Amino acid sequence: MADITIDHLHKEFGLGADKVVALEDVNLSIGGHAFVSVVGPSGCGKSTLLNILSGIDVPTSGRVTITQDGRPARAGYVFQAARLLPWRSVMDNMLFVQKDRSEATRKRCQHYLEMVQLGDKGSKYPGELSGGMQQRVGIARAFSTEPDVLFMDEPFSHLDAITARTLRKELHTIWADTGKTVVFVTHDVGEAVELSNRILVFAKGGRLADDIDVKLPFPRDVADSEVALMKADVFKTFENLGAMAVT
Ligand SMILES: Nc1ncnc2c1ncn2[C@@H]1O[C@H](COP(=O)(O)OP(=O)(O)OP(=O)(O)O)[C@@H](O)[C@H]1O
Ligand SMILES: [Mg+2]
Repeated sequence: MADITIDHLHKEFGLGADKVVALEDVNLSIGGHAFVSVVGPSGCGKSTLLNILSGIDVPTSGRVTITQDGRPARAGYVFQAARLLPWRSVMDNMLFVQKDRSEATRKRCQHYLEMVQLGDKGSKYPGELSGGMQQRVGIARAFSTEPDVLFMDEPFSHLDAITARTLRKELHTIWADTGKTVVFVTHDVGEAVELSNRILVFAKGGRLADDIDVKLPFPRDVADSEVALMKADVFKTFENLGAMAVT
C-alpha cells in the first residue's frame, strides 16, 4: 500500500493567450488500501494528473510524493490503449519492461498472463489477439513489474461492454488480493462506483471539486440499488458543478 501526497499541484500548458490550466492547486493525500477513481468531464485534467503522478510529465509548480514504507514507491501504468509492440510476441512484450530475463522473471510474467487468462498466448503476436486480449496483456504487463501503485487511464473505455465487465471483475480481484494502490481514471461514473472506495471528482479547469468515500461493500454490481443510488449521487455532483454530460 503506497502513500501518495499531492501538494499545491499546478499544471499549465502553453503560453500567453494559448495558456491552458490543466490542474489548479490540487491538494490531497491517498493512503491505505485505496482504489481511487478520478472522474470528470473531458479536458478536466485527469490524464495530466495521472501523467504527473507516474512521472511521465512534470508539474508547473507543486509537489507529488509517492512512497511505500518510507521509500519511493514503484509505479505501473496502464494506458487507454494497450500500446504493445506489434513485432514482439506477447511474452516478449512482457519481458521488455523487466529488469532482467531470468527464469524467475519469465515465470513471473507467465503468472500474470495466467492471471488475465492468457497463459497460453505468450507466443502469439499482438495482431493475433482481440482488442480485449491486448488490453489484458497491457494489464498483466503493468502488474508483472510488481509495482506498489498502479495508474490506469481509462483502460476499459475502448472495449465492448462484456469484456470490460469481465476485466473490471478481474482487476477488482487483483486489487483485493494484492493490496496494491490503484488510481483509476474513468469518465464512467458507474465504473467508478463499482470499483473504488474513493472517488475524486474534477471540474473543468483542473479543480478538485469533490472527494467522495464509497463505503458500500464489495463486490458491487451496478444493478444493486445502493450502487445505483451512489451513482445517482455522483451524477448529482456533476450537475451541481455544471459539468458536461458524462456517460
Ligand atoms: N501536451 C499538451 N499540450 C497542451 N495542452 C495539453 C496537453 N495535454 C493536455 N492539455 C490540455 O490540458 C487540459 C487537460 O487535459 P487532459 O488530457 O488531462 O484531460 P482529461 O481529463 O484526461 O480529458 P479526457 O477525458 O478527454 O481524456 C486540456 O485542456 C488539454 O487540452
Ligand atoms: Mg484523458
